[in-house]
Amino acid sequence: MLQRTSDIQAETRRHGPVLAAPLPPAAPLPILKYICAARRNAVAAFHADVYREWIVETKLWKLHTFIVNDPAGIRRVLIDNADNYIKGTIEPRIASASSRADFIANNKWRDRRRTMSSALNHRCMFGNAAMVFDSTQALLEEWKPLAAHLVFDISSEMARLALGIMSQVVFSSDRAESMPVLEHALARVHAEPLVNLLDFAPLLSRPWAAYKRNCAHRAFSRLTAFIHEVIRKRSVANADYDDLLGRLMQERNAETAHSLSTEEIQTQIVTVIGAGQQSIGLALTWIWYLLSQHSVEEARLHAELDEVLAGRVAGIEDIARLPYTRAVIEESLRLYPPLHTLAWRGAIDDDEVCGVKIPKGATVTIVPWVLHRHTKLWDRPAEFDPGRFSPEQGTARSRYAYLPFGAGPRVCIGASFVMTAISLILATIAQRYRLRLLADHPVEPQGLTALKPRYGMKMTLEKRR
Ligand code: HEM
Repeated sequence: MLQRTSDIQAETRRHGPVLAAPLPPAAPLPILKYICAARRNAVAAFHADVYREWIVETKLWKLHTFIVNDPAGIRRVLIDNADNYIKGTIEPRIASASSRADFIANNKWRDRRRTMSSALNHRCMFGNAAMVFDSTQALLEEWKPLAAHLVFDISSEMARLALGIMSQVVFSSDRAESMPVLEHALARVHAEPLVNLLDFAPLLSRPWAAYKRNCAHRAFSRLTAFIHEVIRKRSVANADYDDLLGRLMQERNAETAHSLSTEEIQTQIVTVIGAGQQSIGLALTWIWYLLSQHSVEEARLHAELDEVLAGRVAGIEDIARLPYTRAVIEESLRLYPPLHTLAWRGAIDDDEVCGVKIPKGATVTIVPWVLHRHTKLWDRPAEFDPGRFSPEQGTARSRYAYLPFGAGPRVCIGASFVMTAISLILATIAQRYRLRLLADHPVEPQGLTALKPRYGMKMTLEKRR
């Protein structure tokens, strides 16, 4: 039967374009295949039932894991019984090259989190909004002379923008020197798979972990030496700097009143940069991808920006008046959460989560990639629909169905800064340009330490005005 054009359009509107996502295996993969698949792409290895079940139990050699999708269960693990679920029991082994591994180890975490939260407090982060705006304007100046048909990888552009912002947040005046050092340090971490076959191999997992720690140490040695040198220079100059490094240098231990050691400051800074730069760049990359595939939503975003800003630059005070812009960001973080998997938690005692026994020593995993596409939690989970985050619809959903920044005592420290920064960047760029995905460019979300587009994101610029 022939379909009328209007029917086809209505159909397309209802279902939208097919968005990039790996097809899940129909049944659980045998263990070796599972590890190999997860090594290539951590979000491709979950079988179809994982997106339908509330709790999925798996035994991988000695590793007994539970993926929890039930919002009540997530609440139990992340909040109500959070002390029973310890981060860092697995990471030092599995992801020892990750910059977060050191920070999240539980014994030192509480002190470190307190210091970091105070150094990244609300006032300081909002002082950074002007700097976010300046960095975005500088990028737009670079784009100005580019020809419309020039193809470039928006994921590299956004990574560069995010790196510039994080360098400014941390090192302000020393930013120009810090950029190449940071790029060097992060290149290795970003290319690292979430899991490796050797992580699970009996006898070999320990030497392998030591080898990875050594690699991580080498990858970060230039950065730690750089931080050391900046601290030395600042101490000699005896000047105060209003950036993260400056604030960490002024921090005092609440009990001893001692200042933080250089090593402590290095750890904190490596953590913030590792946690923030890649995620901000990737969040923006996926937003541009989604907008390029959804002309109606893109037009609505432009209409909001044009109406509220009327051609002037976006400031922090405008953000509250841009609800659709925020909804676009939230929906993008749902479909493509840069941190696709929360850190694995080890159960230190027996527990029961939504009627399922979690034995002491088991590992509990919460996977935003899966949770945000769960068929019982989301209507049309694979479709891009910013309307889900309108004030009316948003309240109907469980708080624990949507976790791009995690939840509970380990929730992301940078979340409010990130939402502000991304809103400003999106508003600034989208006022001037549309970004168009290169025809036939393959897009594949690949779960490494974060969710990257495997082949980059080749796009062209189209001037709006
Ligand atoms: C789009 C950007 C970002 C996303 C999606 C994101 C996501 C997350 C998530 C999901 C967690 C919790 C992990 C878990 O529970 O296992 C986390 C933790 C963390 N994030 Fe972010 N993050 C982003 C940007 C940032 C930025 C810009 C900073 C710093 C300024 C930052 C600092 C941290 C820190 C220090 C932690 C560890 C907190 C702890 O364990 O106590 N993040 N982030």
